[in-house]
Amino acid sequence: MHGSVDGVAQADLAHNAAQLRAEVKKLSFYYGTSQALKSVDLPIVDRQVTALIGASGCGKSTLLRCFNRMHDLYVGNRYEGSITLYPENLDIVGPGVDPMLVRLRIGMVFQKPNPFPKSIFDNVASGLYIRGVKTRAIVEQRVEQSLRQAALWEEVKDRLHQSAYGLSGGQQQRLCIARALAPNPGLILFDEPTSALDPIATAKIEELVDQLRLNYTIVIVTHNMQQAGRISNFTAFMHLGQMLEYAPTKQFFTAPEHPKTQEYITGRFG
Ligand SMILES: Nc1ncnc2c1ncn2[C@@H]1O[C@H](COP(=O)(O)OP(=O)(O)O)[C@@H](O)[C@H]1O
Ligand SMILES: [Mg+2]
Repeated sequence: MHGSVDGVAQADLAHNAAQLRAEVKKLSFYYGTSQALKSVDLPIVDRQVTALIGASGCGKSTLLRCFNRMHDLYVGNRYEGSITLYPENLDIVGPGVDPMLVRLRIGMVFQKPNPFPKSIFDNVASGLYIRGVKTRAIVEQRVEQSLRQAALWEEVKDRLHQSAYGLSGGQQQRLCIARALAPNPGLILFDEPTSALDPIATAKIEELVDQLRLNYTIVIVTHNMQQAGRISNFTAFMHLGQMLEYAPTKQFFTAPEHPKTQEYITGRFG
């Protein structure tokens, strides 16, 4: 990897070494015979927001899907390298790891809100049920807490048992965030969470990410470089399946080192 990972940010990272929540090391991924990720390295600093940017098709979603072993659902897909979760020191793409357990530790929020065809309450509670949490009072408490953290509680507290499909797009996305938060994941991954939303709903999600940073570690894929600049602490740039540059966000946008990064952020491609 070029750029700041070898320079200034390396000093920061050494300083923060004990504070990594996860670390991607030499991760390659193959859809059958087609290689989509090429020896990707990415440190993920605890309780910070890491933005992942790059042109369409460069492998951002593929990288996120490695984190919750979603690729395992298809035969022929293959991982090389590691994604280590700290402090557990668990390699989540390692062979001995149960993908179901991984999915409970890693929250995912997608581009299009995808609530289940269930009530608002049951959407948020679903991860708790999978975890075997059955005590009603605990489930209710955790549902309320997650909806509050997702800044949705006030809007839905009187209709918890109505269908999630009755919510607006922005509300559905905050519901999906509440659903991701409920099992108390170590890491939350957002894949272009605002690209299907209007500016007001987008601003709400951005505010929310800013709040969540206090308690959660976040990786967010975004097409929108202004958004990356506004909400992230670190920015990583991918190009054709490779991680080309990683740096603290301010430095990334003011002094990008790789020529491809410069081209991308000045809008000359992508
Ligand atoms: N299910 C799949 N099977 C085969 N190739 C895929 C699949 N999903 C994505 N790809 C390919 O992997 C590459 C990276 O795609 P993706 O991760 O979706 O990029 P991004 O999210 O950055 O737009 C692209 O070349 C894409 O065509
Ligand atoms: Mg994508």
